[in-house]
Amino acid sequence: MAIREIIVAPDPRLKITAKPVAKVDGEVRRLMDDMLETMYRAHGIGLAAPQIGSDLRVVVCDVARANEEAQPIHLANPEVVWASGELLLREEGCLSVPEHYAEVERPAEVKIRYLDREGKERELHATGLLSVCLQHEIEHLDGTLFIDHLSRVKRDIILRKLKKTQRLAEPA
Ligand code: NI
Repeated sequence: MAIREIIVAPDPRLKITAKPVAKVDGEVRRLMDDMLETMYRAHGIGLAAPQIGSDLRVVVCDVARANEEAQPIHLANPEVVWASGELLLREEGCLSVPEHYAEVERPAEVKIRYLDREGKERELHATGLLSVCLQHEIEHLDGTLFIDHLSRVKRDIILRKLKKTQRLAEPA
């Protein structure tokens, strides 16, 4: 396993439409393992492949608390196949939008269909934080970030601050 660099917005690699995984083989499992290790290192609860520069529809997620045993979920080609009419407003952040948080409204519960780490088709009914996390990560696969749910003014303020931080971080 290896730690990969997490891409920070604004970056065109975060805006791609990722490609379906043809088969969950050793290479895809390695990608999932690298993503999970990178996510844990960054103290995140979810990560999508485009965030480390891959163009595959792969997501990892673990919403267990720090004092609980890890509960990693590996998903290839995840799809929301059902969403509740009931909505939930919750504060979100993103490893690609560091240090910025905002409330986003999403369906409270979803049903996700995906291939697991062994390539087996599965369905998952997600509620609460897991539901929010999976919806957020699946949107990354189509180039959507949580800040795209905000007003243009709010989004532009965040992107401007991120650009400024990146400029300051560059060596002179
Ligand atoms: Ni994110």
